Amino acid sequence: MSHGLQTMSYIAASILFILSLSGLSQQESSRRGNYFGMIGMTIAILATVLSGSATDLGNGLNSYHILAIALLIGGAIGAAAALKVEMTQMPELVAIMHSLVGMAAVLVGYANFFHHDANLIGAEQTIHIVEIYLGVFIGAVTFSGSVIAWGKLCGKFTGKPLLLPGRHVFNLLLLIATIGLGYWFVQTAELGDATPLYIMTGIALVFGVHMVMAIGGADMPVVVSMLNSYSGWAAAATGFMLNNDLLIVTGALVGSSGAILSYIMCHAMNRHFLSVIAGGFGSAGGGPVAEITGEVNPIEAEEAAQLLKESKNIVIIPGYGMAVAQAQHTVYEITKLLTSMGKKVRFAIHPVAGRMPGHMNVLLAEAKVPYDIVFEMEEINHEFPDVDVSIVIGANDIVNPSALEDPNSPIAGMPVIECWKGGTTIAMKRSMASGYAGIGNPLFVHENTRMLFGDANDRLQAVLKALQG
Ligand code: TAP
Repeated sequence: MSHGLQTMSYIAASILFILSLSGLSQQESSRRGNYFGMIGMTIAILATVLSGSATDLGNGLNSYHILAIALLIGGAIGAAAALKVEMTQMPELVAIMHSLVGMAAVLVGYANFFHHDANLIGAEQTIHIVEIYLGVFIGAVTFSGSVIAWGKLCGKFTGKPLLLPGRHVFNLLLLIATIGLGYWFVQTAELGDATPLYIMTGIALVFGVHMVMAIGGADMPVVVSMLNSYSGWAAAATGFMLNNDLLIVTGALVGSSGAILSYIMCHAMNRHFLSVIAGGFGSAGGGPVAEITGEVNPIEAEEAAQLLKESKNIVIIPGYGMAVAQAQHTVYEITKLLTSMGKKVRFAIHPVAGRMPGHMNVLLAEAKVPYDIVFEMEEINHEFPDVDVSIVIGANDIVNPSALEDPNSPIAGMPVIECWKGGTTIAMKRSMASGYAGIGNPLFVHENTRMLFGDANDRLQAVLKALQG
């Protein structure tokens, strides 16, 4: 492929990626956004592959054969993983994919170091060495941090924050060592000495593990979006190493959109961005967490249906349990029935409900719930005093009043959906078990709360039947 055609293809792919991001920002256009992204990536891969030239590897093999085999294996693993993954496992899949971007940046960095371009001299060579160093550093942090995030999201590692004494000093020492090793590397890289690169890689891996281990359960959304951003910067660093403009643009798009998402998440969780980067902000207060006292007041499906029949203004609050139970279709059946009875039914969505950004919106869109009855927390929270019945479907942390009432709670300060300020809350879950943050919830013993125990889909089917009867 000629250089001109390659440049044009790269520009076309970049524009498609930008259109893809803008499409993904709205539910109505998200499908189109995905198509733009897929077409852009196909153009990007084809233009990159076709602009190279085959290197003979002996035995009748050339570099294109290796590339074809790698694409087939990688594509097959990716397709199998995407087909197999449950909606509830999506965040883990995303986290582990981020780790692959980090690993690729590390491997490309080492490959570049051991087979560097002999034509580079002087300042150009120094810049290239710094690119390799930074690329390997960001890649290694992204890799190990994402593996820990994956473990935390799928429950393989504890969700509790690991708070080592003097952890900030430890982080600072790691940073100083990284800068010192960088200086050593720049001085000796020309002689082929990889020692500082090896040591720094080890330090960066430890840093990634420590950074994510220090973050507590309820604050994981910020980490996921932050690692998303890091993976973009790792890709951009790889682009600099390989002198590939498209990879730089794409990496910068992912890096900056991930950073904006992290900022939005921080805002939603009422956290400071800098304390996220320093880690260990998932624990709060210092004093003892308030004890939860009170009686659980259960309700049966028939009684819940009766309560709904008698109310006018209903708000449904979905959480992670709705995703587990796959209850979104039944929820919509109930919504349609209640609306046909003349009731006002709306959905309230917390920004970190579920396990990934937009998790609830995706499920509701899948069930074809109209967008105009789906409201963000901020839009609807002040209306709860006028709400007759709130139905909390498999949500826990996002409706926990202790976030506002107990300064020692690990989620203190996080805005939550204030359903207890309305009439009756019907809280659906299988047991009194805690949510992702691992803390008790006084909502479930609140005087206005009735607990509807069981699998959310099963119980909602029973409510639907009772409403129809
Ligand atoms: P959670 O606090 O995790 O609570 C979910 C509740 O659903 C659990 O208490 C569970 O109780 C119940 N449940 C599970 N399966 C169920 C089923 N089949 N039927 C009925 N109930 C079921 O969820 P949330 O309120 O949505 O809050 C989200 C949490 O995840 C926050 O702490 C957030 O910070 C964290 N997080 C979010 C993200 C993003 S980006 N959204 C990423 C990582 C972490 P039982 O076991 O008793 O049924």
